Amino acid sequence: MTKYSQAEQTTGQGGLQLLRIQTPWSVAEIYLQGATVTHFQKNGEVPLLFLSAMSRFEKDAPIRGGIPVIFPWFGKPEDKPNQHGFVRARVWEVAGTKTNADGSLEARFKLPSCVELPSIGVDYVVTVGVTLTAELIVTNGSASEFVYENCLHTYFTIGDINQTSVAGLQGVEYLDAVDKFARKMEQGDAIRFKGETDRVYLNTPHTTEIRDASLRRVIRVEKDNSVSTVVWNPWSEKAKRMLDYGDQEYLRMVCVESGNVRAEAIKLLPGGVATLKVKLSSLALL
Ligand code: BG6
Repeated sequence: MTKYSQAEQTTGQGGLQLLRIQTPWSVAEIYLQGATVTHFQKNGEVPLLFLSAMSRFEKDAPIRGGIPVIFPWFGKPEDKPNQHGFVRARVWEVAGTKTNADGSLEARFKLPSCVELPSIGVDYVVTVGVTLTAELIVTNGSASEFVYENCLHTYFTIGDINQTSVAGLQGVEYLDAVDKFARKMEQGDAIRFKGETDRVYLNTPHTTEIRDASLRRVIRVEKDNSVSTVVWNPWSEKAKRMLDYGDQEYLRMVCVESGNVRAEAIKLLPGGVATLKVKLSSLALL
């Protein structure tokens, strides 16, 4: 355990660069590839974020787990070349680290300028302490409106998907991706998982909670400037088709993703700045 917060840049899996952060309360790892937070663990607790044992750690490939940053599009729109944008597989730069007054450590990352978005600035601030916060900051330096989707595609560690529920979405409308994006209403007091689940919950700026009876833990997902919540678990058949994901890993992870997608995309005026912020915390399930 460390008395002060500190960060060091080092080499991780596949020879990729990462920032390793230690604070008096927690440890974290952030790969420069995608600025992907792959690890956050409070002292004495099981890791909060799930990272696949089968993940590739290769140049130009997204990391399977942690918090991939999805931008500037989500999913696979017809006119786009791939799924979930391109920044999750780009190498970001570390723009600086600092210790905040409360002892937490803040690391700032910057997306190097790229041909696809020559006039758009993209920064990402990760703050590690008792909680983990991640904030994506987009600046429109172009002369026209910039329309984009964003999503902090967060993979959480759970003890058992069969003993896990996601609360906070009752009465909310969602698009069901496993039923041709049919529009449905969430009826239950919490989502329970019985098979492949892939849903975009609409108009959901509020907090959700992952209740994990197996690890006796509640994970709270609080957010600012996010109205879409994606809940995803591939279940067994899709897990087998995913090359960078273990066949049984669906049992101990769930994604609750915070963003602004599809019809809820962001429309950013010239000169505008838009943020998306997520705060993750954990507490004992009583
Ligand atoms: C989720 C999507 O956000 O990401 C799913 O809703 C998708 O449809 C999942 O399967 C993983 O996507 P990828 O591109 O990382 O395999």
